[in-house]
Amino acid sequence: MNVLMIAPGYPAEMPYFVRGMVRAGAKVYGLSDVPEHQLPPMARQHLSGYLQTPSLTDEDAVVRQVQQATRGNDAVERVICMWEPGVILAAKLREALGVPGMGVAQAELFRDKDLMKQAVGDAGIRVPKHVRATTNDEVRAGVEQVGYPAIVKPIAGAGSMDTFRVDDAAELESALAKMGHIDEVNVEEFIDGEEYTYDTICVDGEIKYFNVGFYRPRPLIARSNEWISPQTLTLRDVDSERVAGGVAMGKAVLKALNFQTGFTHMEWYKKPDGEVVFGEIAARPPGAHTVDLMNFGCDFSAYDGYGEAEIKGTFSQDVQRKYNSVNIFKRAEGQGRITRIEGLEELKRRFGDAIVVVDLLRVGEERRNWILTLVSDGYVCLRHPDLQTAMDMADAVGTDLRLYAS
Ligand SMILES: Nc1ncnc2c1ncn2[C@@H]1O[C@H](COP(=O)(O)OP(=O)(O)O)[C@@H](O)[C@H]1O
Ligand SMILES: [Mg+2]
Repeated sequence: MNVLMIAPGYPAEMPYFVRGMVRAGAKVYGLSDVPEHQLPPMARQHLSGYLQTPSLTDEDAVVRQVQQATRGNDAVERVICMWEPGVILAAKLREALGVPGMGVAQAELFRDKDLMKQAVGDAGIRVPKHVRATTNDEVRAGVEQVGYPAIVKPIAGAGSMDTFRVDDAAELESALAKMGHIDEVNVEEFIDGEEYTYDTICVDGEIKYFNVGFYRPRPLIARSNEWISPQTLTLRDVDSERVAGGVAMGKAVLKALNFQTGFTHMEWYKKPDGEVVFGEIAARPPGAHTVDLMNFGCDFSAYDGYGEAEIKGTFSQDVQRKYNSVNIFKRAEGQGRITRIEGLEELKRRFGDAIVVVDLLRVGEERRNWILTLVSDGYVCLRHPDLQTAMDMADAVGTDLRLYAS
């Protein structure tokens, strides 16, 4: 099978998915806006060909270029994109090349936060009250409609970027002043509670594997406070009462949106009174090494499992949930370059082989922008069969591992 994959080198997980599809028997051709030699070695090694385009954002130009380049060649049989901003481009390419899979109208439901809530809500699933807005006056009217506290966020955002909770008119005005560069926003009722994920690998509308994770603390809080070491967790026990409502909702959402084949990443909220509320859904895997959390949880490969599902329509990874696994993302204290790292040896002594990844910036390296990347200045991954133990260890990494910069 000939697969065209958009952005085969970015985000960091993509080369593993390329390899997964190749292992399942596909020939994968890459399409992106960087020179081929800049792709990660694993992507380069597994691609059968590569097409560089001047810009992935000029979608119509990319479609014309691909049509020209593929004329007279073996037919493209799949177009894949697991990088959020390229999901619509992939759908346009499928339509232009006559390839099966999501078309533009369906892909919009996974990109446009208002359309998705409309479609999910129409199926009788609980979504936050929501209003689409393009002008400041429409935002004010929207907030009037949903009430305080409200959330104002980009209609097609990611990573909590430009997302604001507003509790009163003054906060709304200050949020509006910071959102001038955004064309269209979604105004939502603020949902208090815990924030979970429901992620799947599907084949022809059938769920072959699913994962339930949660965030500590909620992403918007983690992204608003630099001192926090955010955690993402995947749960070992996905059959518990605690997540049953979200799992049922996740299945209903996939059905409502008629999702067929590929990876999905849904977020949902659980209120203190137990009510579950839909958050958002994307037609791609979660980022920030969450697929690795799945892998460490089951000692399998979700990359290869996805490749097999996409290419062969089967899923033969052995899903035995053995661990709760956690990523803890670290932010250095101070600006500039990393000067020292404290507490790591002691944590390794305490937790031994429960720690499965340590990937921190090294002394001398420039700090990353924690607003732009959840991974921040690096992360530690650990796992344990017992949830409370895993969370306690993760909290210790949060407090006792310290990076300094100056
Ligand atoms: N209606 C809402 N109620 C409460 N919190 C919200 C709401 N919408 C967004 N948030 C917060 O903002 C974060 C980012 O919003 P989200 O819709 O997930 O967009 P994205 O992850 O694509 O940036 C969420 O993880 C959540 O913490
Ligand atoms: Mg989100």
